[in-house]
Amino acid sequence: MKKVAIVTGASSGIGTAVAELFARNGFQVMAAGRDAKRLAAIVEGSGGVIPWTGDLTERQACEKLVLDCVGQFGRLDVLVNNAGIYLRGDASETREEDWRRTLAVNLDAPFFLSKAALPHLQATRGTIINIASDWGLQGGKRAAAYCASKGGLVLLTKGMALDHAAQGVRINAVCPGDVDTPMLVTEAVHDGLSHAEALEKYGRDSPSGRVTRADEVAALVLYLASDQAAQITGAAIPIDGGNTA
Ligand SMILES: NC(=O)c1ccc[n+]([C@@H]2O[C@H](COP(=O)([O-])OP(=O)(O)OC[C@H]3O[C@@H](n4cnc5c(N)ncnc54)[C@H](O)[C@@H]3O)[C@@H](O)[C@H]2O)c1
Repeated sequence: MKKVAIVTGASSGIGTAVAELFARNGFQVMAAGRDAKRLAAIVEGSGGVIPWTGDLTERQACEKLVLDCVGQFGRLDVLVNNAGIYLRGDASETREEDWRRTLAVNLDAPFFLSKAALPHLQATRGTIINIASDWGLQGGKRAAAYCASKGGLVLLTKGMALDHAAQGVRINAVCPGDVDTPMLVTEAVHDGLSHAEALEKYGRDSPSGRVTRADEVAALVLYLASDQAAQITGAAIPIDGGNTA
C-alpha cells in the first residue's frame, strides 16, 4: 500500500521539492497550491501527484483539502504544512491586515489542517511535518509577524507532539535558514539585490558560507516522514548552515 502525503505550498520552492521527492520515493501526493499552471507541470513530471488548488487562509478550505485527499486516496500518512508568507516589517510598520494574513497562512492553516488530519493520521500512525523557520527559534529584524507566526508554529508542534505521541502520531518542525526559493528572491528585491547577489550576500552571512537548497530541506522532510525517524517527535530541527548554532 502506497503512503499518502499532503504537501501545502507545493506550487513553488520547498513545497515543489518535497512533493517531487515524495513522488519519486513512492508516495501518492496531494499537491496543494494556488498556481494551477505550476501544479500541472509538477503533475506532468511526477507520477502519483494529484493537484489541489485553493487558498488555505480559511478553516473550511483546510478541512476540504484533507477530505478531498482521503476521498481520493482512501488514507493519509503524512501532512507537510509548508505554505507560508513573509511580509517584511517591524511592529510599527506592520498593518493589521498584514499581521492577520501572516498568522492566517503561517499558523492558522497548519492548525486547522492538523486538526482535520489527526483522525486519519491516528488510523495510519502517521506524521505531521511543519515547515517553520530559524526565525521561529530566534528573532529576526523587521519580521515581527513572521517571527511570531513561526515561533507559534514551533510550539504548536511541540505541544501537539506531546498530546498525540501515545496515539502513534509524530509531529516535528523543520526550521530552515535562507533557502534559494522564490521567497528568497522576493527578499532580494526588497534589499535591492539581484538573485545572484542575494545568494552571495546571504551565503556570506551564514557560517556554512552558502544558502540552503530546497532539495536539502526536502531530504530532511522525507527522512522525518520515514520509519527511520520513529523516535523523533516534538523536535524543531534547524537546517540553516549553522545560523542558530
Ligand atoms: N526560503 C526561505 O529562505 C525560507 C526560510 C525559512 C522558512 N521558509 C519557509 O518555507 C516555507 C516554503 O517557503 P518557500 O521558501 O518555498 O517560499 P515560496 O514563496 O516559494 O512558497 C510558499 C508557498 O506557500 C503558498 N501560499 C502562500 N499563501 C498561501 C495561501 N493563503 N494558501 C495556500 N498557499 C499559500 C504559495 O503559493 C507558495 O507555493 C514557508 O513556510 C516559509 O516560511 C522559507
